[in-house]
Amino acid sequence: QTIYLKDYKPPEYLIHDTDLNFTLDNESTRVVASLTMSRNPASKADDSALTLLGENLTLVGVQLNGDILSTDRYLQTPEALVIHDVPQHEKFVVTIENTLNPKANTALEGLYLSKNMLCTQCEAEGFRKITYYLDRPDVMSRFTTTLVGDKDKYPVLLSNGNKKAQGELPDNKHWVTWEDPFNKPCYLFALVAGQLECVRDSFITQSGRRIALEIYVEAHDLDKCDHAMQSLKNAMSWDEKTYGLEYDLDLYMIVAVGHFNMGAMENKGLNIFNTKFVLARPDTATDSDYEHIEGVIGHEYFHNWSGNRVTCRDWFQLSLKEGFTVFRDQEFTGDRTSKAVKRIEDVNALRTRQFAEDAGPLAHPIRPDAYIEINNFYTLTVYEKGAEVVRMLHTLLGPQGFRKGCDLYFQRHDGQAVTCDDFVNAMEAANDVDLTQFRRWYSQAGTPVLTVSEHYDSDAQTLSLTLKQDNPPTPGQPRKEPLHIPIKTGLILPDGNLAQCRLQGSDQVSHKIVLELTDTEQTFVFEQLPQKPVISLLRGFSAPVKLKMQRSLEELAFLLSHDPDTFNRWEAGQLLAGRVIAELVDDLQNGRSLEINPVLIEAYLKIAQNCWLDLSYFALLLSLPSEIYLAEQMPVIDVEAIHTAREFVACQIAKHLEDDLRGLYLDNHRDESGCFDAKAIGRRRVKNVCLGYLSKLDDTEIQRWSLKQFDTAKNMTDQIAALSVIVNTQHPARATCLDAFYRQWRDEALVLDKWFALQATASPPDTFDAVERLLKHPDFDLKNPNRVRSLVGSFSQANPLHFHAANGQGYRFLADRIIELNTLNPQVASRMIGALTQWRRYDEARQALMKGELERIMSTEAISKDVYEVASKSLA
Ligand code: ARG
Ligand code: ZN
Repeated sequence: QTIYLKDYKPPEYLIHDTDLNFTLDNESTRVVASLTMSRNPASKADDSALTLLGENLTLVGVQLNGDILSTDRYLQTPEALVIHDVPQHEKFVVTIENTLNPKANTALEGLYLSKNMLCTQCEAEGFRKITYYLDRPDVMSRFTTTLVGDKDKYPVLLSNGNKKAQGELPDNKHWVTWEDPFNKPCYLFALVAGQLECVRDSFITQSGRRIALEIYVEAHDLDKCDHAMQSLKNAMSWDEKTYGLEYDLDLYMIVAVGHFNMGAMENKGLNIFNTKFVLARPDTATDSDYEHIEGVIGHEYFHNWSGNRVTCRDWFQLSLKEGFTVFRDQEFTGDRTSKAVKRIEDVNALRTRQFAEDAGPLAHPIRPDAYIEINNFYTLTVYEKGAEVVRMLHTLLGPQGFRKGCDLYFQRHDGQAVTCDDFVNAMEAANDVDLTQFRRWYSQAGTPVLTVSEHYDSDAQTLSLTLKQDNPPTPGQPRKEPLHIPIKTGLILPDGNLAQCRLQGSDQVSHKIVLELTDTEQTFVFEQLPQKPVISLLRGFSAPVKLKMQRSLEELAFLLSHDPDTFNRWEAGQLLAGRVIAELVDDLQNGRSLEINPVLIEAYLKIAQNCWLDLSYFALLLSLPSEIYLAEQMPVIDVEAIHTAREFVACQIAKHLEDDLRGLYLDNHRDESGCFDAKAIGRRRVKNVCLGYLSKLDDTEIQRWSLKQFDTAKNMTDQIAALSVIVNTQHPARATCLDAFYRQWRDEALVLDKWFALQATASPPDTFDAVERLLKHPDFDLKNPNRVRSLVGSFSQANPLHFHAANGQGYRFLADRIIELNTLNPQVASRMIGALTQWRRYDEARQALMKGELERIMSTEAISKDVYEVASKSLA
C-alpha cells in the first residue's frame, strides 16, 4: 500500500531511553529491549494502545513496568506488536524479548551476517527487523547497548557512542556496553561483531579535543586502510574550516563489510561501509576509486551534522539530509582534487542517469509525496538533483549568505527531526529573502527545458536574451508552475575576454552575473556592447536543466578555445562532438556513407596541442560524450547507430591526431607505483585516453604498448586501462590477459569485481555469451551485491549495445536475475530493474520485448514491495 506525505502525523508515543541487550549468535541472536516511553503530548490521537513495528522476529515475551504480560494483553501481526493498554499519564517501561536469524537474512537489512561478521543496516526501516520499535526518524532516543558473545567468534564488539564497560563471562564469553549520549532515531543504530583488525589514528579538533579514529577490517585488508584514514582526517578538518562544524563524540569508527546494499551508512559514531569505499592500495584500486573513497568517507562524516545532529522528520524529507550532504561532499572533493573535473563528473552523472529518471515513469520530486517502499527512493533524484537544488541556493545566496543560512539551520534545529521546508526557512530568515517560488523545486518533478534566443542590435549596442522555461509533465503532475532558475552568465568578446555585463534596469556591473529566471518567459537586455559577444550561459551548470540554444559549430569551437568557465568550455566540446555524432547517426539511419566533419578534428587538434595545467581536465576535454549521454539526447534511441557513429568518430580522431596522441602517451607514461597526487593522476588519465584512441588504429605497435602497460603496470589504474583496451579491441592476447588478471587477483574481491565488470561492459560480439558464462563462474555470487552490480548491473546499465540486442536475450537475462534476486535481496533486485524502466525510449520491437519482461517480473510469486513498486510504475 502507498504511504503519503500528506498523512504525516506526529508519533503517539515517545521513547526516551532505549536499552538493548544482544546475545549474539550467527543463527539465533537474542535481543532484549527495554524502552522507557511516554505519551507524546504533541499527538492528538487518543488511543491507549501502543503499536511497535517489527518484522521477521520471533517474539519470546513482553513486559510492562516489569510485569510479564499475558498473551491477551497484546496482539502480534506479521508487521507489528500491539500492546493494548499502556499508561497514558506517566512514563512506563516496555521490555521485549525476541530472537532473529542473521544468517538467513540475505536481504542485508537489519542484523545480518557478512562472511563471519555480524553487522547491521537500519536505514531506512531495518531496525524493525532487530526488535519491535517505533521505527520512524522522528522518534529520537538515548541508546545504551550491551553486546554479549563468544570471545573467539566475536572478539570485537562495537556499537554507537562510547564504550562504557566490559567484562568476561563463563563459557568463553565476554560483553561490552556502549552508550551514545546523543538522542537519535533508530535508523542510526549500529552494531558490529566479529574477528576484525583495527587501524588507529587520531584527530585534534579546532577546539583542541582529541578524537580517536578507528577503522575495522579483516586482517587480510589491514594494508588497504591508509587512504581511508587520511580521507577521514581531511573531511574532519574541511568541515571545521568550511562550515565551522566539529565532531562531537570522542571516538569515530568505520567498519568495512563485504556484503552491503549501498555505499555506506552514517550510523552515529560507527559508520558501516561497503569495502569498495574503504579499501585501497595503489595496485588494487584505481585513481577514481581513491577519489570515490575520499568522497564517501567525507559524505558519511558530514552526515554527523547534516543527518544525525539534525535529522529528518519522515522519509519524504530524505533529500534534506542526502541532497545537502551530497552537495557538501561534492564541494569537499572539488577542493581536494580539481573543481573543474569534479563538476564535470557530477554533471555527467546527473545528465545521463538522473535526467533519464526524471523523464521516465518513476519521475518524482526531490521530496516525493508518496511511496510504497522507501528503499526505492534512495534515488539519483533525491541525492543528485537534491544536491543541485542546494547548489542553486548557494548560487542565489552567495557563499557567505549560504553559510549564514546553514549556521542558522544547525542552530535552530540541533537535536531535532525536521523537514526540507525548515531548511529553506533558515536560508530565507538568515538572508532576508523570499524563497517561496524556489520551494517548487522540492515539489515538482521533471527536468525543465530552457530555450534561449538572442538578438544583437548593433545600433543600440544591446544584446537581448530571451529565456523560456518549459516544465514537462511527469506521472501524477500534468501541469507545473514556473521555477526560480539561477543562470550564471558571461559574455565573451571576439578576443576571448569577458565583457562587462550591464543589465538594463540594474545598476550592478560585473563580468559574471546570475540571471534569475522566474517567469515562463523573460527577456534580459545587456547594454553598452559595441561588439557582439558570444554568450556563455548556465556556467558551471548552475541549474539542473536542459539548455536548448541554436549555436553554429564555429561558435562552439570558439567557446571551446576561449570560455574561461571550465565547465562551459568542456561543454562546448561535448556539444560539438554530440552534434557531429548525431549527424552521423542520421547518415547511418538513411544509408549514407560516413564522413568526418573537419570542424571537429580541428577542434580536437587544438585541444591536443594546447598546454594544460590540469591534466585531468585535459583528459576530459579529449574524451567523447558517452553512448549513454548521446542516447539521452535522441528521441528514439538507436543503440547500434550510436555505437557505430561514436566508434567512427573515435577512429577518425585517432587517425588525424595520431602523432599528437602518440606523443602525449609517451610523454605521460611513467613507471610509477600509483601515487595519489593530482599531477600523477592527470598523467595517467591523459595517457590512458590516448591509448584508448590509438587502440582503434589496429596497429601492432600500439598493441604492444597496451600489452606492455598491462604486464608492467604497478598501479591498478594503468593495469585496468590497458586490460580494457585489450578486451575491447580483439587483441591477440585478450584471453591470456583476462586469465592472468584473474589469477593475479582471485583473492581480492574488489579487483575481481572489476574483472567481471570489464567483461560485462565489453563491446566484442561474444559479450553476451561471456556474461552468461560468468554467471556460472565459481566466483559469481548472487548473494553479494557488489558482485551482482559488477556483472548484472554493468551489463544492463553500462553496455547498451549488448544489453539491447534486438533478439531480447539481454532483457530476458536481466529479468531472470531480478526474479531470482526478488527472494534473496529485494533492494538489489529492484535496483536492477533500472534499465528496463526506460523501455519507452526504444523502438517498438524492443519496447514490446522489454514490456514483456517487466510483465513477467510482475507475475513473480511472492513479489516484494520493492520490485512491485518499480515494475508496476514502469508499466503504468
Ligand atoms: N544514508 C546512507 C547514505 O547515503 C544510505 C543508506 C541507504 N540505505 C538504504 N537501505 N536505502 O550515506
Ligand atoms: Zn547519505
